[in-house]
Amino acid sequence: MSRVRDREASSASTRATGDNPGEPCDRALAQAVVEGLGAPQKTLSSAWFYDDEGSRLFQEIMALDAYYLTRTEHGILRSRGDELARRIAPDARPVDLVELGSGDGEKTLSICEALARRGADCVFKPMDISPHALDELSRRFAEHLPGFPVQPLCGDYFLNWPVTLPGRRQVAMFLGSNLGNQTHDGAISLLRRMREHLRPGDALVLGLDLEKDPHVIRAAYDDPEGVTARFNLNLLVRLNRELGMDFDVGQFSHYATYSPLDGAARSFIVSRRRQIVHSRRLACDFAFEAGETIYTEQSQKYNRGLIDTMARESGFEVQCHFTDERGWYTVVVWQAVEATVPPTMPPRRPRAPRPPS
Ligand code: AVJ
Repeated sequence: MSRVRDREASSASTRATGDNPGEPCDRALAQAVVEGLGAPQKTLSSAWFYDDEGSRLFQEIMALDAYYLTRTEHGILRSRGDELARRIAPDARPVDLVELGSGDGEKTLSICEALARRGADCVFKPMDISPHALDELSRRFAEHLPGFPVQPLCGDYFLNWPVTLPGRRQVAMFLGSNLGNQTHDGAISLLRRMREHLRPGDALVLGLDLEKDPHVIRAAYDDPEGVTARFNLNLLVRLNRELGMDFDVGQFSHYATYSPLDGAARSFIVSRRRQIVHSRRLACDFAFEAGETIYTEQSQKYNRGLIDTMARESGFEVQCHFTDERGWYTVVVWQAVEATVPPTMPPRRPRAPRPPS
């Protein structure tokens, strides 16, 4: 998901049950399906994975042996917390720590604990689309870090992005390799939007999954327990419910690939046979050939070169990496650089009038 697009999508659809044909989210989903399943290569955005059941299945994925991402990131945040805190709050300046998609705050608690140990003057501003997750976060912080200032913000990241007063430093965080659901261009435009909210000297902390043995990556997206398969196929269950579709979910399967050529893990839903799926809500049919696929997710894996390029293209410079011993995952700190002024043409001199002949 662009987790951002994801979350916008899921925010809009939290209460979508399909009984409300006029609801805007419903229309967005309907449009996505008409366009996505009408295209020669059928496509549905991973943004739509996260209905209630999808969010629950993602929690289950994060606990899987094969899904190393979450565990590795937590390990880095725990073991390198003090160094990270020094990068977040390098001097006496007070800090606003803004997290995009904080969820229940489990991963960020260790960063805030390190900031507290450092005696940093810091306010944590977690943003999430789920009010439930933010309640959970507040409870967690009250229990483990009482007195640490927390100001949760519920809703769209860019609509709710908090203003940081002069004299304070803002540090934004986007963890979980959520950036990976974006195409390269999508990632750059998302990072530039983040950069627009920051001032030179402010920072962005990103959690990014790195390239590694392709077997390890593929296994993370095709676990033997079949949880990721259920997560992917839950999209069809959602379409049945919200758009009155009649997918026979048993007639579709989950397919995951990883290509070292472009560092992208990709997931598909495959039609097991030639079949026609009808939508009552949309009053239309979608035909599937045997073996035809719906492209549902991209999860990009990064390397240092790509990370440097992305930073440069979006107005940042890489400050430091915190990577686990296996080199599987990185938490990278970027600093916002002075916006580069586009080169201006030299002023044109007015042409001297020709002397009368
Ligand atoms: C939440 C986007 C980081 O791409 O690894 C997990 C979602 N999809 N298993 C990822 C996901 C299949 C996950 N992100």
